[in-house]
Amino acid sequence: MSRPIDALLDFLRAEEARGVTHVHLDEEAKELLRDLHRRSRGAKAAGTSKVLYQAAAPVVDQPSKPAAHSAVPLRQGDEGQEASRAGQAGAPPAAVPAPVVIAAPTSGSAAERIAALAAQAENWAPARKLGTLRQTMVFSTGNPEADLMFVGEAPGYQEEQQREPFVGPAGQKLDDIIKAMGLSRPQVYISNIVKFRPATPGQTTNNRKPTAEEMASCLSFIRAEVEIVKPRCIVALGGTAGEGLLGLSGSVTGMRGKWHDFGGIPVRVTYHPSYLLRSSSIRDKRAVWEDMMEAMEKLGLPISDKQRSYFLPKP
Ligand code: URA
Repeated sequence: MSRPIDALLDFLRAEEARGVTHVHLDEEAKELLRDLHRRSRGAKAAGTSKVLYQAAAPVVDQPSKPAAHSAVPLRQGDEGQEASRAGQAGAPPAAVPAPVVIAAPTSGSAAERIAALAAQAENWAPARKLGTLRQTMVFSTGNPEADLMFVGEAPGYQEEQQREPFVGPAGQKLDDIIKAMGLSRPQVYISNIVKFRPATPGQTTNNRKPTAEEMASCLSFIRAEVEIVKPRCIVALGGTAGEGLLGLSGSVTGMRGKWHDFGGIPVRVTYHPSYLLRSSSIRDKRAVWEDMMEAMEKLGLPISDKQRSYFLPKP
């Protein structure tokens, strides 16, 4: 099951991404955040470098609204001030609007549960209300019980036409990568953070990257998909997917070469297949291949000497 703190953080991320700087939280939500904050300080004190969640930063109480319930800021160092505000006399408890998150369906086969999620995505209000995404929903493809899950950013023109992720040129490159790993497309699970193609004015076949706001609006789905599929390893395709999924920033190069974590599942970030299509550099191909070998090792897949030598300079 999705942890309440994850649902709350998804909600805060979505709000922050759409420019909201103040939210009201009830006591239960505040306690979840305090607990997260305590644990993050404990982790720091213990010298671990695990990133908790970056998005939960500048959320503070909104002075212009009646203090029906006060907010807990997640920014370090503000807690004393907020704790006293939170304790203000006369602030009656009030219902908090339900976080806009999705819970993974709990009954049925993995395929049925994914289908149920996809049905919920069709008219997903948080994405629809942004008004920046197109109408057609594109969910996922592949084995809903796969050990390996690929996560891209958002569907493009071809994906929208066929209602399937990664079927255009980038998808063909991804198929090559999967094949080189000794796997086939139906054996893995392939999805995108954003379930709708990002719109542009006068759009024809051109695509654009999703914004942080667009990714935040759909992030609950990936979380629920991961809960259902239970992959043993996730590969995030490209820096935008790394940002949306893991809350990272900076270049793909900086995100590569280490294991990240998404809901307890190890995640490797690699270059997007469309980058490989544009690059003629053998070093870029090798870099992606090294990331894939890391994933294969994590999954206990055999790697032959021939596979180990892919994209190395010829002796
Ligand atoms: N790029 C993505 O990130 N996802 C797709 O489905 C296609 C291209």
